[in-house]
Amino acid sequence: MNCEVYDGVPQYGYHVGVTPSGEDIEVDLRKTANFNMAAFGSSGTGKTFTLRKLIQNFWRGNITVIVPDTQGDLGADSPYDEIPNAAIQEEFFAYQNGTVCLNCLDISVVGKGSGFYPAIQRALRAIQYFHPSMGVRQKSVLTKVLLDTYARFGIHREDESTWTNQPPTIDDALETIQYMLKEAYTGISSNIYRECGELSAKIKRNRAKIDRMHNAIAIQMNDSFENGDFESEIDSQKDGAEAAEKKLEAEIEELKVKASKIIDLECSGNGERAGEELNISALLGVEQVLQQMSMSRLFSGSKPFKPAKGVINVLNMQGVFEKDQQALFFLLLGRVFNDAMNECRILNKGIPETILVCDEAKLYQSVCEDSMSPFPRIVTEGRKFGLGALIGAQSPNQISREILGNIATQFILPLTRSEWRSAKNVFGLDPAHLEVIRPKSDGYLSINGKKPSPVHLWAWEPMPWSRDIASVA
Ligand SMILES: Nc1ncnc2c1ncn2[C@@H]1O[C@H](COP(=O)(O)OP(=O)(O)O)[C@@H](O)[C@H]1O
Ligand SMILES: [Mg+2]
Repeated sequence: MNCEVYDGVPQYGYHVGVTPSGEDIEVDLRKTANFNMAAFGSSGTGKTFTLRKLIQNFWRGNITVIVPDTQGDLGADSPYDEIPNAAIQEEFFAYQNGTVCLNCLDISVVGKGSGFYPAIQRALRAIQYFHPSMGVRQKSVLTKVLLDTYARFGIHREDESTWTNQPPTIDDALETIQYMLKEAYTGISSNIYRECGELSAKIKRNRAKIDRMHNAIAIQMNDSFENGDFESEIDSQKDGAEAAEKKLEAEIEELKVKASKIIDLECSGNGERAGEELNISALLGVEQVLQQMSMSRLFSGSKPFKPAKGVINVLNMQGVFEKDQQALFFLLLGRVFNDAMNECRILNKGIPETILVCDEAKLYQSVCEDSMSPFPRIVTEGRKFGLGALIGAQSPNQISREILGNIATQFILPLTRSEWRSAKNVFGLDPAHLEVIRPKSDGYLSINGKKPSPVHLWAWEPMPWSRDIASVA
């Protein structure tokens, strides 16, 4: 499918409104210090409206837009008024029947944050969003569960060539911990159940192999009966099959021994004791978390997340509780940053490839914890990889100073009185400036850290009361 539905010349300069006297105001992404933008304003002032206008403009720049939609006002049914339907592709994160999925056990193999160790760290953190107060013991159990789960899928820290194997999922991690619980409950030291499982799988495979050998021999016997030769070759194949059968018998014996060992141990309860690390209450705690994640079916959508290029990719999360959105944000933003890094051919190209849209910044606070969290990284390091963020926030206080300092384009819409002090601090706007602007119409625009100037947003006509604004500005 060709997703690049915009076929005009990419546009990077956007008309965003007019000055009080009616002069056109343009934001040109090639001239801003970075591709980050934000709209600040209290509820109902026009933030989301502004975000939609900008998103439509990005589309004309052939920019890949990624929009988590938590409120249901940025999706395909929202009033986008300047673009065709095909410009928007909407997917759903949902508890039962999501259309898209982020696997928290994925291992990326290129670029920064790739490899086995970061994958473990990422999975640990994502899972902890479901149980933020996890203790040291549980964390260590969870780490062991993850390592064992990868191992079951043939993925090992020491062997880089295994990192590209099909990764396990949360359901597989749940299965691992159930094995471990079984071991802990019976007091039988690790591996006996797993050894049995693996051995019986091997026996099955070898049985099938021997069947195939016998078939091949039968066919050749037929042939040689007709031609009268190949005697010696058939003999050697018969020897091979016989040897394989002997080996199989030995394996079956081994399985019998192991199985009877399990019976002994389970009955007498005095087997090799499980190690200290198999603390049952810690295991149960972790099992509970993994069970919740698995049961939510939030991570088992059929289609892996892969945004279409040059399209507005809306990720509808309306059906997901706010607390569960955090893990999705964490995984999603991490992926967006990693993809930008890995797919970037030319550093510092000067025009954006991808823009992530985060309306209602306060929802993203838990992915802003430290400067290595995905949100701050996108904002502070994204530019050189052609990545920007478009943010909506009710107050500048919802965004850290570090992030604020990296947003080149700032729209300031009407703010509640209680925010006027921080508006003075952050934007240098006096109460007199803020008093005169009207919701759903006016604001101030600051580009590259310059003093904010008044703008009649998304309009071509000057405002009738423009002299008020002009006099305070
Ligand atoms: N500049 C504008 N021109 C016309 N209508 C607007 C404008 N800004 C906002 N609106 C309308 O005002 C209402 C509230 O805007 P919205 O963007 O949802 O506010 P917010 O996201 O700040 O809470 C919406 O119905 C929107 O269409
Ligand atoms: Mg809104």
